[in-house]
Amino acid sequence: MNIRRLIASRRSIRQFRPKPVSRDLLMDFVDAGRLAPSAANLQPLEFLVVDDPAARAGVFPCLKWAAYIQPDGDPKPGREPAAYIIVLVNTKIRDKMFEYDVGAAVENMALAAAGEGVAGCWLISIDRPKIQALFGIPDHVRIDSVLALGYPAETSVVEPYRDSPRYWKDADGVFHVPKRTLDAVARFNTY
Ligand SMILES: Cc1cc2nc3c(=O)[nH]c(=O)nc-3n(C[C@H](O)[C@H](O)[C@H](O)COP(=O)(O)O)c2cc1C
Repeated sequence: MNIRRLIASRRSIRQFRPKPVSRDLLMDFVDAGRLAPSAANLQPLEFLVVDDPAARAGVFPCLKWAAYIQPDGDPKPGREPAAYIIVLVNTKIRDKMFEYDVGAAVENMALAAAGEGVAGCWLISIDRPKIQALFGIPDHVRIDSVLALGYPAETSVVEPYRDSPRYWKDADGVFHVPKRTLDAVARFNTY
C-alpha cells in the first residue's frame, strides 16, 4: 500500500488475533524506528522487543487501554497483543527533549507494521516501575512508552469531530475515532 493510504488507514487497534508476528518483521519494525529523524542526530532511543509468551504475560497487566471507554477497550482474553516494542531512552545520550524522537520513531514503526498487515496501539499509560523490574532495565534507561502489536481482530474508523475527542465502540464492536476536520486545522498564509 502506498504511504499516504497507510497513513489514512492506520488506526489504534486493541484486539488482536492469536497469531505470532515473526522475528524478522519485528526486527524490521525496529529498523524503521532506528531510521527515524533524531534531534542533533543523537539517537538516544533503544527498543526492547517482547515476543516470548511468559514475558508478554508479564507486560500485559502493566498497560491501560482506551481510557475513555474503560474497560470496553481492553483486549479480551485470547485477543492480547502478540508482541510489544518497549521504547527506551538512554539518558546517558540525552535526558530531555527526546519526546520528538520518540514520536517520529513510533510512527515509523507503526506505519512499517501497518504495511505488513500488523496493527498496534501506542501506550503511555504504563506501569514503568513494574516493567523496569520485569526486564532488569538499568536506572539510566528511561522507559518511555510501549507499542503493542499484533494481527488485528477489530475495526476502527475515523469520524468527523463534533464536540468531543472521546472515541466510542458501537454495538458491533467497531471503534469510532473523531478527528478534527482538515478545514479546522489547516491554515494558509495567515491564521
Ligand atoms: C502519545 C500517545 C499515547 C497514547 N497512549 C495510549 C494508552 O496509554 N492507551 C491506549 O489505549 N491508547 C493510547 N494511545 C492511542 C490514542 O488513544 C489514539 O491514538 C487516539 O484515540 C486516536 O486514534 P487513532 O490512533 O486510531 O488515530 C496513545 C496515543 C498517543 C499518540
